[in-house]
Amino acid sequence: MKVIHDLNEIHTQLEFARRDSKRIGLVPTMGALHDGHLSLVKRANDECDISVATIFVNPTQFGPNEDLTKYPRTLEKDLDHLRQAGCSFVFVPAADKIYAPNHSTYVEPPTVANRWEGEIRPGHFRGVATIVLKLFQLVPAHIAYFGRKDYQQLAVIRAMVDDLNIPMRIEACPTIREQDGLAMSSRNRYLSSEERKRALGLWHALCRVQELVNDGEDRVSTLNDAMQSKLKDASVDSVDYANVVDADTLEPLERFQGQGVAIIAARLGKTRLIDNLTLSQSSSNSNYDGCRDDAQGGAD
Ligand code: PAF
Repeated sequence: MKVIHDLNEIHTQLEFARRDSKRIGLVPTMGALHDGHLSLVKRANDECDISVATIFVNPTQFGPNEDLTKYPRTLEKDLDHLRQAGCSFVFVPAADKIYAPNHSTYVEPPTVANRWEGEIRPGHFRGVATIVLKLFQLVPAHIAYFGRKDYQQLAVIRAMVDDLNIPMRIEACPTIREQDGLAMSSRNRYLSSEERKRALGLWHALCRVQELVNDGEDRVSTLNDAMQSKLKDASVDSVDYANVVDADTLEPLERFQGQGVAIIAARLGKTRLIDNLTLSQSSSNSNYDGCRDDAQGGAD
């Protein structure tokens, strides 16, 4: 595995690989890697000749009151994980090389960025779209892999790629869950053991919606109320949103008519978690393994 810090070097090496007809898979990350990230690397390895992970804690996607300075930085451990996962290249640029002091160009994010995270975290998707476009320029990959856990981020990146005619295929990969259903996230490490127990309320709320849909409920107001009530039962500290929305536009729905995704953002102490579940009208939702105590990872 080659670890590269220099912007020209990563680009040149991968241009050579492309000339040799190698297929390149890109996995952008901010480090603090967990099995969710490693599943993306595995997918890139399965589908491409060369896998490239990037590790960069992107300052422009954090708001002034967010956790940029506290964000976990675990580079040596991350490199060990990536080595074990068989990653070919890791690109770890320095912040001042990505954002030179005179940097002033940003991507105006697409409409799908407006609600939910976009409303609660102003400027977040501008930062995400900007860094992702930069990484796409620096790492000339064929396919980029993103987790469905950040559902709105995925929608924003897909729209940006379409709107700006970026020659990159975007692959969405399943959310990886802990045994009990909690979605893996770099932020889970902030949770105290008591908060960790309450955090399971997000998954239980999502499961409840799928159960109601299985029973034929299609009124989204009822589905949203059910999520709120499950989150309340779990004593999460606050709920930023818990809504069933259109799977493509992320606009609120009135009726569930076969397609939709339940999205949640909630806070446990100082930690803010997001999760989602793509809903299915058929009783067997491959994204959902039920909310049993022994629920296996890998849903959605
Ligand atoms: O999902 C993340 O880890 C980040 O938002 C990303 C896509 C690497 C951009 O910084």
